[in-house]
Amino acid sequence: MNQDALPSRRDAPAPIAITGANRGLGLAAARWVAGRGHAVALLCRSEERGRAAAASLPEPGGPYQHKVFEADFASLDSVRTAAARLTALGAPLGGLVNNAAVIPQDRAESADGFEAQLAVAHLGHFLLTALLMDSLRRGAAERGGSGVRVRIATVSSGAHYGPAFDLDDPNFRRKPYDSLVAYQQCKLANVLFTMALARRVAGTGVEAVAVDPGVWDTSLFRDYAKRASFGSMPQPAPLDERAERIVGGLVAGHADEDLNGLYVSRLAPAEPSEAALDQGAQERLWSWSAQAVDLEPDGADRGAPSPEDA
Ligand SMILES: NC(=O)c1ccc[n+]([C@@H]2O[C@H](COP(=O)([O-])OP(=O)(O)OC[C@H]3O[C@@H](n4cnc5c(N)ncnc54)[C@H](OP(=O)(O)O)[C@@H]3O)[C@@H](O)[C@H]2O)c1
Repeated sequence: MNQDALPSRRDAPAPIAITGANRGLGLAAARWVAGRGHAVALLCRSEERGRAAAASLPEPGGPYQHKVFEADFASLDSVRTAAARLTALGAPLGGLVNNAAVIPQDRAESADGFEAQLAVAHLGHFLLTALLMDSLRRGAAERGGSGVRVRIATVSSGAHYGPAFDLDDPNFRRKPYDSLVAYQQCKLANVLFTMALARRVAGTGVEAVAVDPGVWDTSLFRDYAKRASFGSMPQPAPLDERAERIVGGLVAGHADEDLNGLYVSRLAPAEPSEAALDQGAQERLWSWSAQAVDLEPDGADRGAPSPEDA
């Protein structure tokens, strides 16, 4: 291969990190961004499933390769290790998709003792975002002049329209567990987090956006639809190119648009719930989350393990 033909690292599309990239909407987004020349950092619970997914993606256009990082989002240690391995590569990031989620039938806890849905879909992503922030800022600094936006897209859901976030009992220790209420709560946390993050990244070249992808026929949906209490649901669509573009396009497209702090439903900006727009609630969740994952109150790392420790 003629190395001279490769774009320089500076000009090449920067790698995009995607959690839960081995199937469903995460894999769909990975397909989209890889198709636009980006290498993908696939953060997956199973390295084997991650590798199979990486092998199915279009080849990236630049000098970076797709790479799998084992990361169990139900363990903060595992998230820290994956983030340390990723940052140790020294590559700037062109975006981050916080996508992984799970809906267990019964109440389950993460390795750190948090309710499993909140741990996977919110706390793990809260920590990961903080730990990758320097790489994202570097991606933005290197590409600012070219008008490319570095976005953190956090995948929420229309399910976030519901009650306010219950900070008195976020882990369902006192109230009866309902997996759908827990799902609503963690999807609301995704929007509250995005709004608080958007204030913190404003003007840095990094943008935070929350996305409701719509209803797609994935493993999550199939389990979700089984819940008798859920009632009627729109017919799920098979994953297609549109599904790829909804999330993938947010981090590898819309270059001229300022999407910071937006809630995007399918492909259009939309109004999130009243509970999601409550700035006090956004900041209370931020402080609680920082403490829960052992970050400084402003979300800065207290000292990540060195790559050698990872
Ligand atoms: N499908 C829909 O209709 C719909 C609608 C609205 C919002 N969403 C949102 O879209 C996102 C993706 O969901 P999906 O529908 O694509 O679901 P999916 O097909 O079930 O995929 C979920 C992904 O999350 C990963 N994951 C689960 N637990 C994990 C853990 N502990 N650590 C690391 N990764 C973990 C899964 O990995 P494994 O393969 O290892 O389990 C899988 O890659 C979610 O945030 C969901 O809330 C989906």
